[in-house]
Order: sequence, then structure tokens, then C-alpha cells
Amino acid sequence: MRIEDIAPRASVLIESMRDIGYSLETALADIVDNSITAGSTCIRIFVSTDRAALQIAILDDGQGMDPSEILAAMRLGSRSPLEEREQADLGRFGLGLKTASFSQCRRLTLVSRKNGGTSAAIWDFARVAETDEWQVEIPDTPEAIPWADRLGESGTLVLWENLDRIVQDGSDDAIAHFVKRVDEARSHLELVFHRFLTAEPGHRKIQMFLNERPLESFDPFHSNHSATDMGPVERIKVGAHEVTVQTFTLPHHKKVTPDEWERYAGPAGYVKNQGFYVYRQRRLIIHGTWFGLARQTELTKLARVRIDMPNGLDAAWKIDVKKASAQPPYQVRKRLRRIIETLGANSKRVFAGKGHKLLSDNRLPAWNRMQAKGEIFYRINPDYPMFAEFASHLSEGVRADFFRVLEVAGSALPMDALFADLGDSPNKVACSAISDDSLDQALQATVERLKESKISLADIKEMIQFVEPFRSNWERTEPLLTQLV
Ligand SMILES: Nc1ncnc2c1ncn2[C@@H]1O[C@H](COP(=O)(O)OP(=O)(O)OP(=O)(O)O)[C@@H](O)[C@H]1O
Ligand SMILES: [Mg+2]
Repeated sequence: MRIEDIAPRASVLIESMRDIGYSLETALADIVDNSITAGSTCIRIFVSTDRAALQIAILDDGQGMDPSEILAAMRLGSRSPLEEREQADLGRFGLGLKTASFSQCRRLTLVSRKNGGTSAAIWDFARVAETDEWQVEIPDTPEAIPWADRLGESGTLVLWENLDRIVQDGSDDAIAHFVKRVDEARSHLELVFHRFLTAEPGHRKIQMFLNERPLESFDPFHSNHSATDMGPVERIKVGAHEVTVQTFTLPHHKKVTPDEWERYAGPAGYVKNQGFYVYRQRRLIIHGTWFGLARQTELTKLARVRIDMPNGLDAAWKIDVKKASAQPPYQVRKRLRRIIETLGANSKRVFAGKGHKLLSDNRLPAWNRMQAKGEIFYRINPDYPMFAEFASHLSEGVRADFFRVLEVAGSALPMDALFADLGDSPNKVACSAISDDSLDQALQATVERLKESKISLADIKEMIQFVEPFRSNWERTEPLLTQLV
């Protein structure tokens, strides 16, 4: 037997490592993980979108590193995933700092201050390409590195330069796109670290800033709202560890302001954001999925389920390097399926309650809500006073045609579009406005019809209040109605 040494080629492997699948936001989150693990209380991110000096700097006030610790940190695979870590450690692979940074930039500088000394090391792709060796540069004057002057007594600076993956060229479009991605990253960090950004019992609160503006904790469960339905905390044993699960049903849109409704929908909307929210040491790993145990339907769109797992279960949950995906172990899957079943019923109740009330208020509807053979459908009501009044003036043949027109219009209700719009932003779906002229004409015809039906004037006045479109245009309707009856 012979042994051959086939070490990876540095210049090749370092390029391939850029495409593990990070986005700007998941890369930033991986750097923030390190700062939190290092005991930081304040983490500041600076993004310079200045064309001449595109940079991203992440500064913390954690315990910092000495020169040998800096070298260890810069090594690819600094610690084995098999090694057991302290409970509060958010790391696992010994890779995050490097893989996250390389996914965004071609030059990574690490500067750190500890015990009064400042030291640094730099990974530069140009050097690795030239030498084909795993060599970092050690600068002589680390204090002179941009942003390093902002380090406090102890702490660490991660600096990304040569951001070729974020800004492909110096065009205005590319810069505008960069600025937008930074905004998205802000929202992502506010969600992923929301439990650190607020004071949770037994834990220190961490402040984070992006370009001097503080990040605001975003709690996806809206748990401080009185209309949020919270389930009990359930505990599931996995070996020696414990996973906790708690269900939340967010408030119906009538119970919150339009702004709140939008905010808690998130950019992807309620339907996409329903599902499990898995936290590892209080840091959000994955959200908006039922892990294939249920479908993301309109009816369960307000359901969000919080799962808390310790870092000892990483392998069982198949946590990935980016800390952006996970899969529940089989012991947990069974229980989760049962939890989903009870939850569906909850969310349905929140919706159905509202749907009925709206319809039963309307005593003379222009649309009828019908139910037959287990299906619900809507049909234009030919007895609606204005339609009936109009029909009475038509010759027999034309009248039959008119009712057919109503039937066709009713059967062509654009259900898919309505369903999608109502699901996304129910507050923004409205009936089209009616002109004053049409409203007046409709009112006259309606009153006429009701009078013919021998309904008392007092009753007519009472009824009209609940009939659309008069109910929604009551200010204009009322004076005219008084004249008419
Ligand atoms: N901001 C920081 N402050 C102090 N030490 C740090 C900081 N960032 C990184 N380190 C040190 O560098 C090591 C390597 O970090 P890296 O992110 O590459 O791996 P990890 O955090 O151990 O695991 P993972 O790959 O899961 O992130 C860390 O374990 C830590 O000891
Ligand atoms: Mg890490």
C-alpha cells in the first residue's frame, strides 16, 4: 500500500466555498452569532454604500481575541462539529465566519482587541489565487484598519471589502439594489434575533444597530396582543434533551390596526409565514414551513408554532452550516402532527366568526350567499329592489335576458383573484366606488319598489340602512331618503 497526499488546492476550494447558499442576510446573521457567543451587549453594523469604498463592518464589544485566537478563528474548520459546546454557543462547524464572509466579499479582515492589545488577520482572495496556499496576511498596524478606531476596551471587528457578490458593477442600479438588500437584511435580523433584542427573563438584552439606527425586536407571534391566542407549552423529550412547543394564533385583521396587520404579515404574507418557527438557543433558524406535515392553506394562515431546541440536538435536527435550515427528528414529528390538527380548528374559528357576521347584517343583499351540496357560492340576487324595479319596466323577452345577464355576471365572479387578494391584504380589498348619480337613481328605484311591496315608510327607512350600497354611503343617502319617504 502506498499513501498519496492530496490536500485541497487552496485557490480552487476557496472559490467553491463561496456558493454554499448564503444571502446577505443569512451571512450577516452568522457573523452576529459569533458576536453574541462572545458575550457582546452591543453589536453595530456599518454598511457603506459609497461607490468608492463599498464596505460592510460588524463591530462588537465581546470578549475579543488575542493574536493566536485570531489565527484559530480564521482557520477553515477551527473547531469540529463533533465537539460538545457550551450551552450558549451559537456556533457548530468552525466555518461560519469564513463561509459567510466569503459568500459576500473577496477580502475578509478580522481585527480584535483583548487585554489591551489589538491584532488582526486578513484573508484576501488575490493572495490565495496567486500563491495557491492557505495564507493569511498579518497587518503591522491593525489600528489603521477602517472602523478599528471604533473598537472599545475589548471586542471584534469583521470587515468585508471587495463586495463583488453584492455589487457586481458600480452602476446606479447596482447600488440601489444594494441599499434595498440592506433594508431587507435589517428586517431579517430583527426577526432572527428578536429574542435577544428584547429582555427575556434570565437573559441579557443585546442592542444592535445598522448604520446607527437601532434594530427593533420583531416578535412574529404578536404575543403581547390580547387577541393573540396562545396555547400551553408542551415538552417533548429527545434523548437527554428537551424540545418545547407552543402554538399561537395571530389576531384576525379586524382586531388589529391596518399597519399592524401589514407588519405581522411580513413581505411574503400570512399564508407563507404560517408554520413552525424553530429556535436554537433562542436564535431563529427556520420559519414559515410545516415540514411537509400539513399544507400552508388560507384557513390556517394565522397559525404560528414556536419550537425551542438546545444546541445539543444539532445533528438530530440536521442543522446546516448557514443555520438556515433544519428538520425535526422523528420523535418530534409525531407530536407536531397532532399539534397541527388541533391548530387548524383554532384558526378556522377565528375566520368563520367574522365571515358570518358581515353577511347576516345585510337584509336585502345584492348578492346572495348560498350553500348546497357542501359548497358555498355567491349569486346576484334578482330580488334586490333596484334590479327587480328595473326588470319590471322591461318587456317580457328582454326581462328574461336581463336575468340571464345577472346570472352570467354572478357565475363569473373572479374567485381566485379575490381569494389571493383577501389572503394577502384584506384591508386593501374594497368595493368599487359608486357615482353620486347612480347612488341617487338606485335609491329612488329601491324606495319605489319597496313602496309597491306595501312596506311601511318607517320600515323602508329602517331597511335601507342595511342595504348596500346605501349603508356604505349613508351620509349622502340619508337626506335624500328623508325626502323620498
Ligand atoms: N466576534 C467574535 N468574538 C470572539 N470570538 C470570535 C468572534 N467571531 C469568531 N470568533 C471565534 O472564532 C471561532 C470560529 O468562528 P466561526 O464562525 O468560523 O465558527 P463557529 O462559530 O465556531 O461555528 P459555526 O461554523 O457554526 O459558525 C469561534 O468559535 C470563536 O472562537
Ligand atoms: Mg460562527
